[in-house]
Amino acid sequence: MRVGILTGGGDCPGLNAVIRAVVRKGTMYYGDSVVGFVEGWRGVLENRTMELDLDSIAGIIHRGGTLLRTSRTNPQREPDGWERIRKSFESQRLGALVAVGGDDTLGVAKWISDQGLPVVGVPKTIDNDLSGTDLCFGFDTAVGIATEAIDRLHSTAEAHNRVMVVEVMGREAGWIAIWSGIAGGADVVLIPEKPYDVAAVCELLKRRHARGKYFSIVVVAEGARPAGGGERPSAAGPRDAFGHERLGGISNTLAEQIEAHTGYETRVVILGHTQRGGTPTAFDRVLATRYGVYAIDMAHRGEFGRMASLRGQELTSVPLAEALGRNRKVGNDLYDLASVFFG
Ligand code: F6P
Repeated sequence: MRVGILTGGGDCPGLNAVIRAVVRKGTMYYGDSVVGFVEGWRGVLENRTMELDLDSIAGIIHRGGTLLRTSRTNPQREPDGWERIRKSFESQRLGALVAVGGDDTLGVAKWISDQGLPVVGVPKTIDNDLSGTDLCFGFDTAVGIATEAIDRLHSTAEAHNRVMVVEVMGREAGWIAIWSGIAGGADVVLIPEKPYDVAAVCELLKRRHARGKYFSIVVVAEGARPAGGGERPSAAGPRDAFGHERLGGISNTLAEQIEAHTGYETRVVILGHTQRGGTPTAFDRVLATRYGVYAIDMAHRGEFGRMASLRGQELTSVPLAEALGRNRKVGNDLYDLASVFFG
């Protein structure tokens, strides 16, 4: 079979492990030839490709980023998007396309699958907010990087009697914040699922300081919102091709408010793309490898219009529609666990 593969949306540690797994099992077990489309859906629109053989995937499992590069190109915004994709499928004589991405990339995968093209999805996002699976690869690495940063910030916060406000990624979900906050021993964690009240945050910090502590760590998700409908700093900024706000910067406002309300000297650290860069954890390499092997098996079973999915410890597949449209949010159980350690 001739198999295509693309990586779309924000990059994510483990993408190379998926590519390697698809190529390795595809070529050595099924006798496939594999072609990579470069820069996500843009590569499919423009039929820009690179052949992927055993040599091209040698030595990449530990590398961050993606061999195929990526973009946030949205073919549904192009007047002739569908026609161009169909032509690329034809000219490459594809029997299957493996689309590795989050809800945007997989939304396009569903769109072309509904029109009859053979597509298999693999769930990817450090945000871990994709429905239809219990876990996305890349999340473990992002949480590890955020936790290490919090660990490091503890000692400098303590040395200076400061409050450190650490902003992490996650878009509209607080998975990275809550996991790194629990793991790093944060004193307050603010997530999009629970709009926050600045006065209540300051009360928690004062309670802690009244117990004799002289520094604090506040973890805030980039998508956290103040209660009462306050705007996020990104509200008026540019949006990407899928209409998403470019989040980031809420920690600056929050830090000013904390300093003003408590009098405690406060600093801000925005972890940003550090959380996505560099080498994936062993866990993410294995999870991504499992997803890649499962995806190529799905293609050979003819399970199209579906996404590889982790349920408990087992891989299975779900219709692409199950992954789309609604984000998986942090539940009360995890938030309540984190809040035992607030203040
Ligand atoms: O979806 C992954 C993610 O890293 C989000 O956490 C973040 O808001 C966004 O991508 C950043 O996107 P970009 O790389 O386009 O700045």
